Amino acid sequence: MTFNIDKIREDFPILQRTINGNRLTYLDSAASSQKPIQVIDYIRNFQIRDYANVHRGLHFLSNASTEAFEGAREKVKNFLNANKVEEIVFTMGATDAINLVAYSYAEPNLIKDDEIILSTLEHHSNIVPWNFLRERKGINIKWVDSDNNGNISVESVRNLVTKKTKIIAITQMSNVLGSIIPLKEIIQFAHSKEILVLVDGCQGIAHQETDIRDLDCDFYVFSGHKLYGPTGVGVLYAKYELLDKMRPWRGGGEMIKEVSKDSISYGNPPYKFEAGTPNIVQVVGLGEAIDYFTERNKEDIFQHEHNISEYAHESLSNMKAIKLYGDKNISSPIISFSVEGSHPHDIATVIDNYGVAIRAGHHCAQPLMNFLGVTSTARASIGMYTSKEDIDNLIISLEKAIKIFN
Ligand SMILES: Cc1ncc(COP(=O)(O)O)c(C=O)c1O
Repeated sequence: MTFNIDKIREDFPILQRTINGNRLTYLDSAASSQKPIQVIDYIRNFQIRDYANVHRGLHFLSNASTEAFEGAREKVKNFLNANKVEEIVFTMGATDAINLVAYSYAEPNLIKDDEIILSTLEHHSNIVPWNFLRERKGINIKWVDSDNNGNISVESVRNLVTKKTKIIAITQMSNVLGSIIPLKEIIQFAHSKEILVLVDGCQGIAHQETDIRDLDCDFYVFSGHKLYGPTGVGVLYAKYELLDKMRPWRGGGEMIKEVSKDSISYGNPPYKFEAGTPNIVQVVGLGEAIDYFTERNKEDIFQHEHNISEYAHESLSNMKAIKLYGDKNISSPIISFSVEGSHPHDIATVIDNYGVAIRAGHHCAQPLMNFLGVTSTARASIGMYTSKEDIDNLIISLEKAIKIFN
């Protein structure tokens, strides 16, 4: 299927909406992407035709539902190029997946004074669970800074590592600057020192080729809602040997082998980490989103986003009143900026009047905001459905806002 932006946009019904009498210009895909009609219909039809609880029933519908649910796991496995389907754990989202690793892997394996390296680019989701661990176990968190463009060198990671470093938890792509991290080199180096690496793929998954086997990371997490799927579902990929040894962190039905009054044995991965009735509808919806994505050819999607990002960078950098953060990453689909003489919140509010949806704030990345010396930025982020017209609308609405504030 060749990439045709008009056809893609037709698949996303929300893009036909008007906001305050204007065409919707949705530039907040980094917060959450919109959903194609194929995913919306699939979820609806699944509930009309095939829905029942999974894994436990012997009846027709339970089998149909289980097949769709486990089929989605297979799709995620293939999408990530993981080795085994058992390496794919469904969670409620990336945040949930990182908490799982912190509780199930790090809690029993790290001791006081052990070190975890995080980057200054991290989203709070990849900070707070490790802070909990610091509070509980007395581990240390060390920070690797980026440069002003959000780039991190392997060298700067290498300089922080000591014998006590046990985990590096790092983003694939900054959710503020859109910068891409040299993960493969970092992971190779980390493994040479027997350090495990968790990759937060929340932003990277939708914009970059992601091959888990090639990356060789130990843990990889992402949320379905940033990949054109529903909210309430995420994925933890972990190497099977790790999952096998990790203890479950939530208890309940489905995750056990046997329960007696005095003892319990747990199921095998991934089930021992999926206590209770899972988010069945969201999981199958994610499977459909992955089909939608792959059927449109990843390379074409990435190329389109690349072109739109360059166009956006170019257009914004021609505006005198705009300050771009991370302006060297011109093909980044996430663009942070500020407007001279005005607060990002005011800018976002004014341009919303013209139907332009951007994000303004700290983007759950306060350490990065401190590093950049600001409390917030405005952020425009691109999805596969973003067109040149969206960027033109952003520029026109920003020009109007600038007139108001200057
Ligand atoms: C880089 C990054 N990590 C983690 C998250 C958290 O994702 P969720 O809230 O879906 O768990 C986000 C969400 O914005 C993100 O951008």
